[in-house]
Amino acid sequence: MTAPSHTDRARSFDAAAAQYAANRPSYPPALFDAIEELAGRPLTGARVIDVGAGTGIATALLRARGADVLAVEPGDGMAAQFRDTNPDIPIVRGNGNALPVATASADFVTYAQAWHWTDPAHSAPEALRVLRPGGALALWWNTTPLDIPWHAEQAVRIERRFGAHPAVEQNGSGARAALTDPTGRLAFTACRVRWSRRVPIDTHLANIGSHSIFLVHGTEASTAFLTEEKQLLLTAFPDGIIEETYDVDLLVATTS
Ligand SMILES: C[S@@+](CC[C@H](N)C(=O)[O-])C[C@H]1O[C@@H](n2cnc3c(N)ncnc32)[C@H](O)[C@@H]1O
Repeated sequence: MTAPSHTDRARSFDAAAAQYAANRPSYPPALFDAIEELAGRPLTGARVIDVGAGTGIATALLRARGADVLAVEPGDGMAAQFRDTNPDIPIVRGNGNALPVATASADFVTYAQAWHWTDPAHSAPEALRVLRPGGALALWWNTTPLDIPWHAEQAVRIERRFGAHPAVEQNGSGARAALTDPTGRLAFTACRVRWSRRVPIDTHLANIGSHSIFLVHGTEASTAFLTEEKQLLLTAFPDGIIEETYDVDLLVATTS
């Protein structure tokens, strides 16, 4: 089988937007504290462009922190789900490589699990164009901590079956993204925030099944894997509740 392309994976979310909205993890309050600290400015009252907003998980939290947020999302299915879930938050269609936003109009440009779908040769200068002086570009990813045995064991099983692990492949991708800053003007500061949530095993399985590596391999392959996975997890977690732990890798660069 030909390996799925980056573009196929970037577009795969649209077909699973409802599954994504219902099962993907959120982000902890400490992440938004860290963003404010590294940016040296509060989110309250700030104009924020949240790019690759998806179903709006991060967008809604930014808004709850008092930000004046505009969501930008390229995908039809994700944008439709966003509108259902967040009818009061404005969203425009577009992508990070050519932001449909005025020059010097934002205090923050944010990417929650989405920067890696852009081409930094375009998205980095675009973020710099849109930010006001003293603004901040913030990129973050929920990644899987491999020091936790059950996560590490599951990562091996996913990698063996699909050739990649959805959240493990993002471990370090923030650092790689920073290295690919072609403008040389993005001096990123990194920070990691660990958090966890307790969810039913079925939520956990629907969560991992909403990652692009599962979506592009098709329902049959994903269902077969997730069915086997459920049996293994029920042995390890007989009460059917699982604690998912995440390390949010955050990168923030401010503009002068
Ligand atoms: C993993 S989801 C993240 C969604 C949301 N930010 C969150 O935290 O749940 C990645 C999103 O990036 C979008 N995307 C794909 N290519 C993109 C691009 N070039 N620029 C911006 N977003 C893109 C996808 O449509 C998808 O909604």
